[in-house]
Amino acid sequence: MNDWDIFLAPYKQAVDELKIKLKGIREQYKRSSKHTPIEFVTGRVKPVPSILDKAKRKNVPLDSLEDEIQDLAGIRIMCQFVEDINTVLELLRTRRDLEVIEERDYITNKKPSGYRSYHVVLRYPVQTIDGEKHIHVEVQIRTLAMNFWATIEHSLNYKYSGEFPKDIELRLQRAAEAAFRLDEEMSQIRGEVQEAQRMFNRKYEENND
Ligand code: GTP
Ligand code: MG
Repeated sequence: MNDWDIFLAPYKQAVDELKIKLKGIREQYKRSSKHTPIEFVTGRVKPVPSILDKAKRKNVPLDSLEDEIQDLAGIRIMCQFVEDINTVLELLRTRRDLEVIEERDYITNKKPSGYRSYHVVLRYPVQTIDGEKHIHVEVQIRTLAMNFWATIEHSLNYKYSGEFPKDIELRLQRAAEAAFRLDEEMSQIRGEVQEAQRMFNRKYEENND
């Protein structure tokens, strides 16, 4: 193991544990035939080249990474409906195995790019052979529509290194508004959709007994 692997090991452990815990919540909802606020979960440890880029960009000395860079460990929670985001937030705020220490609401206050998501920073205890270690984890909570937009925008960002031609920038902003209207429309028929999902779940269980 090199120094980076050793340094990042607790972050990897936190990401793995949180993915399992959040998927557990999803399974509990499914079993109780209630609409699950969590559609799917992803997680990653920031790759070393991105850590070095960000440290340089933000003038963070390499010995202050743990305190100054809060997204070394990152989790993304995707929801079907905007309302589900509040349910997930409540779940996180009341859990006793983690602490929400910061919240950034980029849904009410979208970024100039058009980006929308709800970000929270967790303080999470990892059990290691040298005792308990608290680390930061950034959690991004978003709808499927917000995730679709962010994923596409991210790959274009990659292509243009963040310097979008004006027409593409505008089109992306319009696409972000369209995604937001889609979320609003879906919220209007949420009751119908959820009833259909409950019916489907019951049918599925009957056929798999
Ligand atoms: P960073 O230096 O990027 O961490 O900015 P920050 O410290 O102000 O954190 P912020 O709360 O802005 O969240 C940063 C993270 O949110 C990024 O790593 C992305 O995953 C996501 N994000 C923020 N803005 C955008 C955006 O315009 N487009 C996309 N695709 N993702 C974004
Ligand atoms: Mg950040």
